[in-house]
Amino acid sequence: MTQDLNQMREHMLTAIAAASGLDALDACRVEALGKQGTITALLKTLGKMTPEERLVQGPQIQGLREAVANGIAERKATLERAALDARLASETLDMTLPADAMPAGTIHPVSQVMDELAEIFADLGFAVATGPEIETDWHNFTALNIPETHPARAMHDTFYLQQGIDAKAAGTADEKTTFSLLRTHTSPVQIRTMLSQKPPIRIIAPGRTYRSDSDATHTPMFHQVEGLVIDKGITLGHLKWTLETFVKAFFERDDIVLRLRPSYFPFTEPSVEIDVGYTLVKGKRVVGGAEPDGWLEILGSGMVHRKVIEACGLDPDEWQGFAFGCGIDRLAMLKYGMDDLRPFFDGDIRWLKHYGFSSLDVPTLSGGVGA
Ligand code: PHE
Repeated sequence: MTQDLNQMREHMLTAIAAASGLDALDACRVEALGKQGTITALLKTLGKMTPEERLVQGPQIQGLREAVANGIAERKATLERAALDARLASETLDMTLPADAMPAGTIHPVSQVMDELAEIFADLGFAVATGPEIETDWHNFTALNIPETHPARAMHDTFYLQQGIDAKAAGTADEKTTFSLLRTHTSPVQIRTMLSQKPPIRIIAPGRTYRSDSDATHTPMFHQVEGLVIDKGITLGHLKWTLETFVKAFFERDDIVLRLRPSYFPFTEPSVEIDVGYTLVKGKRVVGGAEPDGWLEILGSGMVHRKVIEACGLDPDEWQGFAFGCGIDRLAMLKYGMDDLRPFFDGDIRWLKHYGFSSLDVPTLSGGVGA
């Protein structure tokens, strides 16, 4: 058996070292460690052994697994380094610019959309508010009616910071003042605004948010815009009108149909998800059209929960309001026709040249915000 394992180790490590590319290397990995892999099969035999046999063979098989896994990781690093070197050698970029040339930078679509949002909402009487990206448990969750045991805390895929974890372990954490996580949404700015300003309040809060999530339409860092209105006698009607006015101005067309769907957020009651109608133009989904072909979800909203108003020291019988939260990157994708979110944050100058905006064109309502 030991003999066999040694032979197997040698054979596998030779194949790994000979793998000429990442695909070939992955084939080695699947053959050894995949679901049907040889080492995986060996590991499965451990369960059927007597304790004495396992005592001898367990460490040997585990050792083989580790050696092969390490070999693969090392080879992978080497191959990746070689691929990067080759790319660096073949792609060159002239970073110099003659002193008399016009500035060549462009405004990132996310910045452009944030400017457009500020412009549209300023016209409706909204100020721009900000809050920290590193937040406390209380502002990000508890004050928003998401107590410690609420399942929504797990749903948010939160990035927790070591300093918060350490403070908790040492018993020195204070929910309200220990900055312990990366904010998972812009909603904590609602709390900070209600605590620092007297109503009536009308703000939007654009900014970065973080969740442990990554694919073509999710990145670990993304952007949201929060909206908050607190005043006397505010109703769902105000929410609907405001969002309709915003979406029409943003997409620069009047034939926009919104669909309000009942939903759930701990910090709003009732909660409404807002879909916007799209029409198919040459197979592409384009926002707008009086008779939509389908619906795209664009934001979450609702009437601010009494408990949230109370947590901020206001009397919910006197003050009511609505709030909404919307993904900015998604708005940019829908308006400017990108279908992958990841290049947004690659900093690739070719993408920026293609999708970026001139620094001289400042969004205005009269000129059309996206002009
Ligand atoms: N914070 C919510 C989210 O990130 C969105 C939201 C904001 C919903 C405000 C209702 C009111 O999903």
